[in-house]
Amino acid sequence: MATCSPYIVIGDDEKGYDLDLFCIPKHYVDDLEKVYIPHGLIMDRTERLARDIMKSMGEHHIVALCVLKGGYKFFADLLDYIKALNRNSDKSIPMTVDFIRLKSYCNDESTGEIKVIGGDDLSTLTGKDIIDTGKTMKTLLSLLKQYNPKMVKVASLLVKRTPRSVGYRPDFVGFEVPDKFVVGYALDYNEYFRDLNHICVISETGKQKYKA
Ligand code: IMP
Repeated sequence: MATCSPYIVIGDDEKGYDLDLFCIPKHYVDDLEKVYIPHGLIMDRTERLARDIMKSMGEHHIVALCVLKGGYKFFADLLDYIKALNRNSDKSIPMTVDFIRLKSYCNDESTGEIKVIGGDDLSTLTGKDIIDTGKTMKTLLSLLKQYNPKMVKVASLLVKRTPRSVGYRPDFVGFEVPDKFVVGYALDYNEYFRDLNHICVISETGKQKYKA
């Protein structure tokens, strides 16, 4: 089994930060409990992931595949850092992009059914928002196999520590997080909270307010 490069572990006892310490859109102040991973830390970690990914890619041309919608922020920021490395080092790797949309969640629960929309050039570095049970990623990987890619590497900003895990680990991970439902930085709860910069823990009020 391939090994995953090192990542930041957020412990079960992590309390996060008071909302008052950061800038939060007014429409969400009652719907969140804590800021869990501030935007600046997400960016700093993503910058390092870009370096690790470039190092491991060798001379391979990269097709970067974004898993929408939750992966769009991570994907865009990761690619910006990869592009900066391409501009500023002796070695640079050509890159094209593609997008695929997967949907499997309603409220904070997996529906068990994974819908795939889009994606036409699949051979790949895959940018994913979060691995919870790992079911979505396993399904996507079996789909990618049909296109006989030379190599598939998966980068996920977050991986959850959960007993529901099917044991899947991506190649590059930003943070390992406790088994809590998190939102922000494009991660949603029924399509809300994507417009939030920090990764936050949703409050009971938020869950009720935006329940499907
Ligand atoms: P998995 O198949 O259980 O690994 O779930 C992966 C997908 O579920 C992610 O791509 C998200 O769309 C969604 N998801 C799982 N946990 C969370 C969460 O804490 N916040 C927001 N979305 C989540």
